Amino acid sequence: MAKYKMILDLDTGIDDALAIAYALASEECDLIGIVGSYGNILVEDGVQNSLDLLELLGRPDIPVFTGLPHASTKDSFEVMPISAQIHGKNGIGEVKLKKADRKPETMSGIDFFIEAAHKYGKDLVIVPTGPLTNLAAALEKDPQIAKLVGKVTLMGGALTVPGNVNPVTEANINQDPEAADKVFRSEFPLTMIGLDVTTRTLLTTKETQKWRDLKTLAGEKYAELTDYYIDAYKVTSPHLGGCALHDPLAVAAAIDPSLVTTLDLNMKVDTEGPYAGRTIGDETRINEPALLTKAAVNVDKGRFVDLFMERLTTLFSKN
Ligand code: BDR
Ligand code: CA
Repeated sequence: MAKYKMILDLDTGIDDALAIAYALASEECDLIGIVGSYGNILVEDGVQNSLDLLELLGRPDIPVFTGLPHASTKDSFEVMPISAQIHGKNGIGEVKLKKADRKPETMSGIDFFIEAAHKYGKDLVIVPTGPLTNLAAALEKDPQIAKLVGKVTLMGGALTVPGNVNPVTEANINQDPEAADKVFRSEFPLTMIGLDVTTRTLLTTKETQKWRDLKTLAGEKYAELTDYYIDAYKVTSPHLGGCALHDPLAVAAAIDPSLVTTLDLNMKVDTEGPYAGRTIGDETRINEPALLTKAAVNVDKGRFVDLFMERLTTLFSKN
């Protein structure tokens, strides 16, 4: 079976770090590059985290590209206090990693998306797990890419549950609703992996202890950064009983869509008024067949968490 070519677009905080590990641990896909976004951290800090994590996981060969530093409608970005509380000021739970020996690529993340879409076409899978600013910018620069790529499976949004920033919006979409709206209404074949499913897939310190017990550097560092995230969830979402595996679930669903149940729906993102940032069905296209956009509404959580632990534990045992 031909392997997917995967690009991750990350605001490298803790669950983004888990998404990198899931992609590297999955034989079904070749991670061909990471594009950095702002969000949980400033773009340059996220890029550095991605470089350092790839080195920790023994893959300094995977290129990292810098994306845009702020939302499409703004001219600056500051990290929200809640992001620092959940991911730590450095984005990876204040865990110190050895600084990578290399720098990010000189090509921009936007151009990398465009080049890869033309080169790999339907074999390319894009998994954004931060704001959609970079992908919307690539689409604006080269609208053809929407029809070229295999699929976009993104972490963001909330359809059947409340948001996590306010009752209607989820954090990644909230950063740049205009960019998200462009992506949702585009011709990308798109699956939304939102809070509907990601807050059902949870991890506790019982699992992270297994990584610590491996006595490898990657096992120890990943246990430490994930425990920071688990502790933050005890304060911000005590009703869940663990931390939400948002971003790795998007990678897993991109590789194996049967992990989630989806609803075919033409979607939009509200960009103004009291519902700004809401991801919902587009009433103007409600009578058109929804051929391109799906929203995940249920997940086989047991199967996913088992796969997640199997894959990451194997990866950390070797690093
Ligand atoms: C999403 O927001 C970010 O903080 C997380 O990394 C995840 O991608 C959850 O709402
Ligand atoms: Ca993220």
